[in-house]
Amino acid sequence: MDIIVARDDAWGIGKDGELLRRISADMKRFRAMTTGNVLIVGRKTLESFPDGNPLPERVNIVLTKNMEYPAEGVVLCHSLEKLPELLHAYEGKGVFVAGGGSIYRQLLPLCRRAYVTHIHAAFPADTSFPSLDKDPDWILVEKGETQEEKGVKFSFDLYENRRFTGK
Ligand SMILES: NC(=O)c1ccc[n+]([C@@H]2O[C@H](COP(=O)([O-])OP(=O)(O)OC[C@H]3O[C@@H](n4cnc5c(N)ncnc54)[C@H](OP(=O)(O)O)[C@@H]3O)[C@@H](O)[C@H]2O)c1
Repeated sequence: MDIIVARDDAWGIGKDGELLRRISADMKRFRAMTTGNVLIVGRKTLESFPDGNPLPERVNIVLTKNMEYPAEGVVLCHSLEKLPELLHAYEGKGVFVAGGGSIYRQLLPLCRRAYVTHIHAAFPADTSFPSLDKDPDWILVEKGETQEEKGVKFSFDLYENRRFTGK
């Protein structure tokens, strides 16, 4: 299970239920990496998708405590304890934890890699990701080259969880 996230300099990831900045190269990469695979998202992140719909051509596992939440086009998961059992059905597919803040925090220790888009800027944010630079379990293994889109600089970085790699 891996993480995929876009964060700014202060590890902010969202504001008012939205992303901080849409970078089309990042969206394209997200689509390429996750299509055909499994996404795990919180209910609020699902509702932030276009028209609140699941992302197409992917299994969308949605965490919610609401037993009445409509399961249209998604696989509902009502507690983290149920997640391993649910994931059994998708063996062979990549599994990406795709937010938001509460889901990243809870699943971080169970993830092997984190694909982190670093947006080289600081935005007002109300949702954050725990800094992997300050977490001794995580190591930056690839610092992507700096790219620029519409005046915003960003890089695709890769972190690994030492608990898995033993490095
Ligand atoms: N930059 C990025 O890469 C990125 C990616 C994704 C999201 N985001 C941003 O993150 C923000 C949303 O994050 P968030 O933390 O507010 O919300 P969230 O994590 O998307 O969703 C929170 C909801 O998930 C459910 N949930 C959480 N833990 C659960 C558990 N253990 N068992 C069952 N259900 C559980 C609850 O739903 P119920 O209330 O229905 O019970 C909870 O209210 C938005 O601004 C979004 O744009 C950013």
